[in-house]
Amino acid sequence: HPLDFSGVWRFRELLPFAPPEQIVTIGEGQTILQQNDYSGRYAGMDSGQLYLQYEGMNPSGSFKDNGMTAASTHARMVGAKFAACASTGNTSASLAIYASVSRLFKTIVFVGSGKIALGKLAQALDYDAKTIQILGDFDDALKQVRAVCQEGSIYLCNSVNPFRLEGQKAIMYRVLEGLGWEVPDWIVVPGGNLGNSSAFGKAFMELKQLGLIDRVPRLAVINAEGSNTLNRLWQQGLRWNDGRPDENLIGQFYGEMDAEDRRAYTLATAIQIGRPVNLYKCLRALEVCDGLVTEVTDQEILDAKAIIGAGGFGCEPASAASVAGVKRLRREGTIAPSDRVVCILTGHELKDPDATVAYHSSDAEKFATQSKFSNVTEFPHANA
Ligand code: F0G
Repeated sequence: HPLDFSGVWRFRELLPFAPPEQIVTIGEGQTILQQNDYSGRYAGMDSGQLYLQYEGMNPSGSFKDNGMTAASTHARMVGAKFAACASTGNTSASLAIYASVSRLFKTIVFVGSGKIALGKLAQALDYDAKTIQILGDFDDALKQVRAVCQEGSIYLCNSVNPFRLEGQKAIMYRVLEGLGWEVPDWIVVPGGNLGNSSAFGKAFMELKQLGLIDRVPRLAVINAEGSNTLNRLWQQGLRWNDGRPDENLIGQFYGEMDAEDRRAYTLATAIQIGRPVNLYKCLRALEVCDGLVTEVTDQEILDAKAIIGAGGFGCEPASAASVAGVKRLRREGTIAPSDRVVCILTGHELKDPDATVAYHSSDAEKFATQSKFSNVTEFPHANA
């Protein structure tokens, strides 16, 4: 069947909302799980126990295509003429490619000013999306695009869209496939708007209910230190709590954030998000998967990224939070060296070449004085 060429829709029985003839696909999800001892050793794992799922190898260069094929399909089902998103870059690139290939709807993307890696911005422009740069960051852009979509009957493609998350479940199906449907001990994923972690939790919950797996892996969500809303709330004790997370705790947190005008900041711009929209769903996923949350510094992210590259993969900074997170959780004794761990590399290495070149340049220290790297002081893995 032609749909079997998609790494998402060959699992269509597990995302049964779309009639096959309506499905919008560009052959996304041709990604495979691979063992990587180079990164594994760095993170402190036993040989053969660290796996990387490189979702950067999707048509638009990030995991977003898994979700955007599903959202585009639903947009077609409801006859949308316009679709929009706010983005730190990858969502906009993905939406733009689906719109231009399918010719079903026109696309408007909102990006924060100066907050987007150039590779990603270039994609939205080249795939012919109307690209609006707003004064502010991702959180501001998302607020604006939600208002615009509501007023203008425009189809919203951020991960608040539940069909996006349906598609992203397929990443976990492929991971399981790569392991012969043996459940790993850990899934480790960077956390931004928390769509992936939410989708992964839903995937495992359903697979268990269907009797296709007999246990679920543990889920570790990794925040960047400067963009750590989930981790801070988690460490303060916020839990799913049977569908009643402590709203006072959340309200107080955001209240203080607003009062201090505190903004997310990390050089991993993809996950520079202060108000993750899928917070509740992620809390549920963390409960289903006996999960936990931690954070890593920008320094740890860049160091891990250099190791992932030297190990023959490569990824954008946000993705490297996964391997940096494993290293941290190993150091703390949470992950055992003999555990089987899967890291999701969410975006392609060429998305943000500036970060890579700066790190490996013999002028690395000079770059460090520029704002993007001001909190990174060492370049131990730089290939100077
Ligand atoms: N990694 C990359 C490369 C991303 O682009 C994003 C999110 C994430 C991780 C975080 O994933 O939101 O599911 O927790 N990027 C969005 C965007 C926000 O606009 O491209 P999440």
